[in-house]
Amino acid sequence: MTKILMVCLGNICRSPLAEGILRSKLSNNFIVDSAGTGGWHAGELPDRRSIEIANKNGLDITNQRARKFTKNDFTDFDIIYAMDSSNLKDILQLAPDENAKSKVHLILNELYPNENKDVPDPYYGQNDGFEKVYNMLDKACSNIAKKIMI
Ligand code: 4NP
Repeated sequence: MTKILMVCLGNICRSPLAEGILRSKLSNNFIVDSAGTGGWHAGELPDRRSIEIANKNGLDITNQRARKFTKNDFTDFDIIYAMDSSNLKDILQLAPDENAKSKVHLILNELYPNENKDVPDPYYGQNDGFEKVYNMLDKACSNIAKKIMI
């Protein structure tokens, strides 16, 4: 069973969407979860705007609750996707060894290989930020699903 973890800063905007979208594209043979490098929102539902854009696209993400990324996640997951380069740096700082580091990737490199693009943080922006984030994550997750379902 392949286990995939989506990670952003707060685990309320981007990574809950990435989790919901990727799960919807995979069979039950995969486990998909998400976490935040920061713990301020631990225990909370996803941001209302993420719930809304997910709903608009036929996904219910209200079963999710935010949690903080921990060192144990390197053991519990096979692939760890960071939403942006700051998340990537924070995750890598906790990695105990090279094997752990090799599990961590920027999610948009699945869409734009080697370009190291960030999924922009929509938290403080306008509502259309969430739609843009949804669309880029949907495309990246389609590529991930194609790659790992082989
Ligand atoms: P996320 O967005 O990392 O996509 O969940 C954020 C949510 C909350 C905060 C920052 C980013 N915050 O600073 O509280």
